[in-house]
Amino acid sequence: MAAAKKEMLELFRRELELCKVRKGETVAVLSVGDSLRDYATAFLAAARQLGATALDVNLEGKSTSVGDRMKEFGRNPLADNPKAMAKLKNADMVVDLLVASFSAQELEIRAAGARMLLVCEDFETLKRLSPTPALRDRTEAALRRLHKAKTFRFTNLVGTDVTYEFDGKYRPLMEYGYVAEPGRWDHWPAGLVANCARDGAVNGRVVMNEGDIVYPRMEFLATPVEFVIERGAVTRIKGGKEADDLRRWMDGYKDPRAYAVSHIGWGTHTGAEWSLKGIGMDGRSYYGNVLFSLGPNVEFGGTNDTACHLDLPMRGCSAWLDGERIIANGRLLPDDLRAVGF
Ligand SMILES: [Fe+2]
Repeated sequence: MAAAKKEMLELFRRELELCKVRKGETVAVLSVGDSLRDYATAFLAAARQLGATALDVNLEGKSTSVGDRMKEFGRNPLADNPKAMAKLKNADMVVDLLVASFSAQELEIRAAGARMLLVCEDFETLKRLSPTPALRDRTEAALRRLHKAKTFRFTNLVGTDVTYEFDGKYRPLMEYGYVAEPGRWDHWPAGLVANCARDGAVNGRVVMNEGDIVYPRMEFLATPVEFVIERGAVTRIKGGKEADDLRRWMDGYKDPRAYAVSHIGWGTHTGAEWSLKGIGMDGRSYYGNVLFSLGPNVEFGGTNDTACHLDLPMRGCSAWLDGERIIANGRLLPDDLRAVGF
């Protein structure tokens, strides 16, 4: 038990070191009830070891599972708690064990200058997907390239061939698992980049292969599913029973905006597994995947806030930015995007 506690403290201290937590800073650790109290205790101790002031912002309320808190995306008890909000906004860094991320409160805290790190996965996952400066470097390089590109095209061996055209209207996004600058947000354990095409400027078809993943349904496809994409929207979904199930699941939201093509990008984390573990950061962050997505684009500065959000990581794809091949059958090619030894 003592060894496990020590291991957690050391891992969390290493994470806060990457976040450049230092003397004179205040680190607020946000949690609710008894949920993730072991994490809270270890983060508070780690912050103190680095010379920072550690603030335990533990809200009253029912302890809930991570899955339940994720379902409540965008809603959290901070909305009715101005005292806690004031503490968080005054902090230099907020460790979010509550899942206040993806809400108006997250934006308010970050606008006040606090950097914010979401941590809600199990310890084994955090350990396996601990970030490194190298992960940050290749993720930042990926963001720079994606930000500059006018087109992204990707294919796979079962018939995908689709092109996204960008015009700079949307804000690209990257996650590499730590936050060292004021106001920045990230999620430990993540490694990915994504951007959205110009409105109406995605055309072609995406054929997900068997074994590709459907989040948040937490499924591996058993047979291929084809999406016909015209002017930025899915106009047909073809395949067997799984295609039919998926279409009915999407139609259940009774929102035609569910069919809009959302972000596109790739995973950068060499520690990620092709699995359905946890809340699904493994598949999303899987090194060299292409992460295809349907539904909302508010995270990128768009107005589509449909509740139907599909993240669809695909393996073994090839991809081109402005005609330069950057991924070949799931392998990242350019030196700045590739991990050493991969
Ligand atoms: Fe998404």
